[in-house]
Amino acid sequence: MTQAVYPVRAQFAQRARIDRAEYERLYAQSVAQPDTFWGAVAQRLEWMTPPTQVKDTSFALADFRIRWYADGELNASVNCLDRHLAARGDKTALIFEPDDPAQPAQRISYRELHARVCQLANAMRQLGVRKGDRVTIYLPMIPEAAIAMLACARIGAIHMVVFGGFSAHSIADRVADCGSKLIITADQGLRGGKPVALKANVDAALKLPGTNSVETVLVVRHTHAAVDMQMPRDRWYDAVVDSQPTQCEPERMNAEDPLFILYTSGSTGKPKGVLHTTGGYLVYVSYTHEAVFDLREDDVYWCTADVGWITGHSYIVYGPLANGATALMFEGVPNYPDVSRFWQVIDKHAVTIFYTAPTAIRALMREGDEPVQRTSRKSLRLLGTVGEPINPEAWRWYHEVVGDARCPIVDTWWQTETGGILIAPLPGATDLKPGSATRPVFGVLPALVDASGQVLEGEAEGNLVLLDSWPGQMRTVYGDHQRFIDTYFKTYPGTYFTGDGCRRDSDGDYWITGRVDDVINVSGHRIGTAEVESALVSHPKVAEAAVVGFPHDLKGQGIYAYVTLIAGEAPSDELRAELVRHVRAEIGPIATPDHLQWAPGLPKTRSGKIMRRILRKIAEAGSSQLAPDRLGDTSTLADPSVVDALVKERLAK
Ligand code: WT7
Repeated sequence: MTQAVYPVRAQFAQRARIDRAEYERLYAQSVAQPDTFWGAVAQRLEWMTPPTQVKDTSFALADFRIRWYADGELNASVNCLDRHLAARGDKTALIFEPDDPAQPAQRISYRELHARVCQLANAMRQLGVRKGDRVTIYLPMIPEAAIAMLACARIGAIHMVVFGGFSAHSIADRVADCGSKLIITADQGLRGGKPVALKANVDAALKLPGTNSVETVLVVRHTHAAVDMQMPRDRWYDAVVDSQPTQCEPERMNAEDPLFILYTSGSTGKPKGVLHTTGGYLVYVSYTHEAVFDLREDDVYWCTADVGWITGHSYIVYGPLANGATALMFEGVPNYPDVSRFWQVIDKHAVTIFYTAPTAIRALMREGDEPVQRTSRKSLRLLGTVGEPINPEAWRWYHEVVGDARCPIVDTWWQTETGGILIAPLPGATDLKPGSATRPVFGVLPALVDASGQVLEGEAEGNLVLLDSWPGQMRTVYGDHQRFIDTYFKTYPGTYFTGDGCRRDSDGDYWITGRVDDVINVSGHRIGTAEVESALVSHPKVAEAAVVGFPHDLKGQGIYAYVTLIAGEAPSDELRAELVRHVRAEIGPIATPDHLQWAPGLPKTRSGKIMRRILRKIAEAGSSQLAPDRLGDTSTLADPSVVDALVKERLAK
């Protein structure tokens, strides 16, 4: 198969920050002399105490440590706000585009954002929040979400954002795990014209065990819907914040002090609290945001992610604001009021850089070219994707129809754990290939290993590991450092294991092939199969459950659940619907199973381990592929007849 290559456009390269020669030179320096390289990059920030130390890391288990800029001191909010006041005080920091296009958009200058962050920071101090305390943020995509994150950073509190699509149970689990004192939420969210009961979810969460640490709930009036206020616990945000002074002394933070915790799913157990620290993270996201998006002073940059995910943290809030950029925050969804909304917003605010997920591109591609072509999009100069592999067909549509074959596409591979982008083209330096994230960014050393850990050279396919640290790397799993080491550094000792499979082609470009562990990537969101399984078995009628991913046209992967009922319970469509509702209530709508198949038994080895390989095959397969010889070796199963029953049931559908 010949591989389509889209060479760097001369017009783009001419004005780009980094061209091919510069990339080669800087990359070579970054890996040969990381201290020199990252020491120089760190000067882009304003330090209260400039670091004299740069890299102090080792992935070797006997000598394990990850520290960057360890003697430096800084405050992230000062870098995102105060630092810009002199030259960019009146520049728009955030453009807020509401769910309903008939409502006015808001433009918030750096000066105003600074004042509002200081007010909330003062209010939080008054409520007793101190450096190191954890604060939960459960907000819609409104400016207060960014304000709350920065206000935490200002006083050294550790924010923990929970995506608005998670349920009361998920909030409670996270609050209990990190012991937060304060929750900042809103009366309701609004998405596609539909309200989201944020405050009611918080109320329900705080009735669940383990949440006693919460002293105060601050409630932003957003839709003005009536909500229960339980005094003195619940306080209106405006009543507490609006009267505060607009100056607030920032906390001095060590570079290695925590900035935030963000929970993400793994292959086992409950979500992990990924902990990021202050100095290295901010250096890394600000530098990669500038380099990968070729940022210019007059750009209007729009990342469509939610602040509930790492993409929102790194590339809506911290990266862009540290760079003094103008970032757009969109409250709504791609198809409301109609499927032209993204492109209308681009025209309305003259967006120049647009960063979204393959799942959104696929959904909009299905609506045809007309909804795109009825808009201008002439302001656009660069496109980006993140979250999952992009299929070449969707890439080409994005390139030709959305970008009018004029805008480079940066396909950015990274993870919650990595803090920022690790593999991506630089638009002025790298030839593009639809479906490939192409090359490592500065300081990143990817490698492919086989199952035994042998490093593969040249053209190869294997498991993706990283051989050395970069400043934006997570530092620990909150409250469980051993889990951090066990999860990422034990599989292939001496390296960080990403959990992804990957191919490197003969040009040295990387192609991520997807997760090789028990994590499902649904619409670019990570769901652990173990979490969905434990939600299912928490239902009184379920004896056992096994969950796998399967290819899904729109979502990338869908969730396929096999359920064994307890003796005496009969399968029915009502029960199936009830179990799906149960999973949504336990985790949230993003974990909704797409298929739920009754399983009289699950295929297990004689030692009792569920053979997911077989379940994946059955879930994936169109009927023709379910011939017994296609399922692979089933001879190690304790009871091979279980598989016949599952296949029969699958074919009956
Ligand atoms: C997993 C991380 C990074 C922020 C959003 C997701 C997959 C991410 C790409 C890409 C192929 C990708 C990987 C990764 N992934 N970006 N450009 N190409 N796969 O963060 O929830 O931590 O998920 O998303 O499988 O491991 P996350």
